[in-house]
Amino acid sequence: MCGIVGYIGGGNVKKVLLDGLKELEYRGYDSAGLAVLQGGRISSFKAVGKLVNLVNKTASFEPNGFAAGIAHTRWATHGKPTEINAHPHQGEHSFVVHNGIIENYAALKDDLIKKGARFISQTDTEAIVHLYEFFLRKEKDAKAAFGRTVEAIEGAYAILLIDENLPNMIFFAKKGSPLQIGRAQDATFFASSDAPLIGLCEEAIYLNDGCWGWANEEENRIFEGAVAVEYAPKPLPATQNSAQKEGFRFFMEKEIYEQTRVIGDTLMGRIENDAVLLDELPEGFLEGVETLRLCACGTSYHAALAASYIFERTAKIETRCEIASEFRYRDPVLKSNELFIAISQSGETADTLEALKKAKLARQKTLAVCNVDNSSIVREADAAILTRAGIEKGVASTKAFATQVMALWLLALRIGKAAMGADVYKREINAIRRVPAALAVRSERHEQIRRLSRRYLHGHGFFFIGRDLFYPLALEGALKLKEISYLHAEGYPAGEMKHGPIALADDKLFTIALMPGTMLYDKMRSNVEELIARDSTLLVISPRRFDAADDFLPIDERDHPLIEFYEMMIAIQLLALEIAVRLGNDVDMPRNLAKSVTVE
Ligand code: F6R
Repeated sequence: MCGIVGYIGGGNVKKVLLDGLKELEYRGYDSAGLAVLQGGRISSFKAVGKLVNLVNKTASFEPNGFAAGIAHTRWATHGKPTEINAHPHQGEHSFVVHNGIIENYAALKDDLIKKGARFISQTDTEAIVHLYEFFLRKEKDAKAAFGRTVEAIEGAYAILLIDENLPNMIFFAKKGSPLQIGRAQDATFFASSDAPLIGLCEEAIYLNDGCWGWANEEENRIFEGAVAVEYAPKPLPATQNSAQKEGFRFFMEKEIYEQTRVIGDTLMGRIENDAVLLDELPEGFLEGVETLRLCACGTSYHAALAASYIFERTAKIETRCEIASEFRYRDPVLKSNELFIAISQSGETADTLEALKKAKLARQKTLAVCNVDNSSIVREADAAILTRAGIEKGVASTKAFATQVMALWLLALRIGKAAMGADVYKREINAIRRVPAALAVRSERHEQIRRLSRRYLHGHGFFFIGRDLFYPLALEGALKLKEISYLHAEGYPAGEMKHGPIALADDKLFTIALMPGTMLYDKMRSNVEELIARDSTLLVISPRRFDAADDFLPIDERDHPLIEFYEMMIAIQLLALEIAVRLGNDVDMPRNLAKSVTVE
């Protein structure tokens, strides 16, 4: 998602800004830009696509001497990823960069246009700079004008603003999007995460929500409302390596923990006024679509399978699921009223890419649900929904899965709004809004998983069992475990155990039972009791206490299956992690696996 860097000082402003953006590149973006204020003049550059395009555009720009600069990587939310929509956005004499969403921008924009402002982009951000200039004309005082601007905007933001008439000064504001200030001798730095600051300064001030202020070469002044406040700086990590893991032992662990945040990125700008917006779908794209075919590999296939339950139950649209490597060589009947959806974290998986090409060849409409913009799969598909998980470094996929399921859930609501009726639609939106909180890892639950993982190191195998939506989750739990623990694990529909696999049951067979309270609890209970009767070692994950199990992991009592799904997902991811840690395995780079599978 979007990233921000800022700098005031006598050093190499262009290098600080571009290096800072490079550090934020892993978050994903579709355009980038910077603006430098020097000698009463602002020079601004923007480029679509990779950072190298901005580097090339600024090749002959050589500022030297004292300067203030702001820079940004943008992941499009309001308006397409074009150069005009890239940040910084400008008014008559000031420039702004912004992460987040200004929710009342439409009203502000209308009002400002009536007052004579000239907007050139489709972004919400541009309203900030025109609003500031409007207040400045009234107030004649820049600090007061910026303060009034912050008061007038609603939503989530981290903002940096520079004004040609105020040399060496940057205004800032923060609410709901991260922003920190670093200080070194004779220089001030801003960034939306630690990474750009490390190596440049030793400490940073982490701004609180609702604060605003300004910095120049001498001082920072921070306000909460009209009250001046001071925040104590905190030490920054010494090296980039530890910064990237942000104190976690493994990237996978960090990625499990950050799901609560990245799912918010997936949702950003996609639900407004209680309705799902997927602006990235071209006008009329879903017209004539009568069935869906979801196609993917590995974890992405599990997301597809989970989504197929959502599409059929909620959107009432016939949905098939395909493993890409199988689909490629079958002779499927492909009809023109079917939408083909390729799901991929990397966007480069060879089988999924080839499956997509096959669907195109059959003249199907195609859609990519993908984490990497400009990847081969995104480029090949007719349209794309980006999952916005940010770079996933752990080879075992976690946050990519969570965001894929969410993107597909949103699509189900978009497709099935009419079929599901107003009450169901409202209930679904309401549930989606509660997912980020359900994904927050609780330390006591993590600790419980760490402790009970001791029992599950040496058996002759694992079965993860579930029904309905929780069957794909069982598949995913088994895949996570085998990838990083190298123990044999299978995901199975709980009702199928007695058709064969139950022959394996004994005390060395570990069964992980997913028993949601909202769905088929009694059916699951019967299946689990059949296993207990055969002495299988049993771990139950459920909101309802289950004393007959060897271990019980609680989740909260919920009123929607997908919220239980997400909470259980965290539990199975952490279980795999803790078992692998106890076995001494390389969690982030398990043997024989690559992050992106670009060969057949
Ligand atoms: C499992 C995992 C893999 C990928 C699969 C597809 O943790 O990461 O199973 O899900 O290789 O990759 P993408 O989603 O990049 O197409």
